[in-house]
Amino acid sequence: MSRFRRYETSKPDLRQADDGSRHETEHKTMTASVATVVKRRTAGPTTIAVTSGKGGVGKSQLAASLAVILRQEGRRTLMVDADVGCGNLDILLGVRPDNDLRAVLKGERTPEEIVTSAMLGDAQIDMLAAPAPDRNGAELQPAEQLAVIDAVKRVGVAYQFVLVDTGAGVSRNPMLFGAAADRLLLVTTPEPTAIKDAYAAIKVLYQAHKIDQIDLVVNMTQGPRDAKRTYGQLVSVVERFLPVEIRLAGMLPYDDRVMRAVRAREPAAFAYPTSAWAHAVRKLARRLMDESEAAARPSGNVSFAQPMAAAGGGR
Ligand SMILES: Nc1ncnc2c1ncn2[C@@H]1O[C@H](COP(=O)(O)OP(=O)(O)OP(=O)(O)O)[C@@H](O)[C@H]1O
Ligand SMILES: [Mg+2]
Repeated sequence: MSRFRRYETSKPDLRQADDGSRHETEHKTMTASVATVVKRRTAGPTTIAVTSGKGGVGKSQLAASLAVILRQEGRRTLMVDADVGCGNLDILLGVRPDNDLRAVLKGERTPEEIVTSAMLGDAQIDMLAAPAPDRNGAELQPAEQLAVIDAVKRVGVAYQFVLVDTGAGVSRNPMLFGAAADRLLLVTTPEPTAIKDAYAAIKVLYQAHKIDQIDLVVNMTQGPRDAKRTYGQLVSVVERFLPVEIRLAGMLPYDDRVMRAVRAREPAAFAYPTSAWAHAVRKLARRLMDESEAAARPSGNVSFAQPMAAAGGGR
């Protein structure tokens, strides 16, 4: 069954889930379908990848803030920095990892040994730090990509959510790690440059990995209308050229406090829990929690659940 059809039959449609004008009947349908899929959920964490076409659109901050909220809501949460060479989740969480995934790739450490914990108030957030670049630069070899997926799978079994920050762009690493997750959050901003690159990422994800269901998060918006306009612009192009369903999963406002939090080396949702940013991320987190029991696994050709499937895709 294609990923697209599985979503149609087993997952609520988030396309306009933030629109307050939704009818009650639709809400009931949504609730019923969540209840149905909850029963079918099998063991293991929900892996969520955060990716983007254009860089600097807020992926890492979204991943870190989501982790804080999921943890505050009592969910065991692991963060994985898969932004090879440019990972910065450690800075956003205010920790200094002794080792990173490169040590695992070199065989010097087990995946469990490199888990670094950040304490944010009472909330402990564990993370796997991004592999440092080696002489091949930031691109991992196919065997290394599989090893990272395998490490995430091994460590991830102890958690309910695994959040993977993939880094930006349409090169093999971010596309593969994005495709390997249960859910894919594609982040864009309202800027035409970011929308164009989001389309490029969608195209590669579909062509290389058969991903035909993507949750869009529009960040740095001036408000809901701005987010919906951005979503509409992207969807109008996708619909013409690709059989991919894009849902509007999150609308995150531009908020100066995000940058202030980064300077304090804290996730914005932790440093400013009552900010507009935190409120919007919390809404997205609640939706992810509600749906996490959905048994859906991606039907792409690689998965954190089955890493040995086929990883050579990508461009
Ligand atoms: N909603 C927002 N309002 C204001 N500033 C934001 C918002 N989201 C992100 N930023 C700022 O934008 C910058 C980029 O954010 P971040 O590092 O999370 O992006 P990224 O997509 O992970 O970047 P990269 O592609 O380099 O990994 C940071 O300075 C961050 O503070
Ligand atoms: Mg980043």
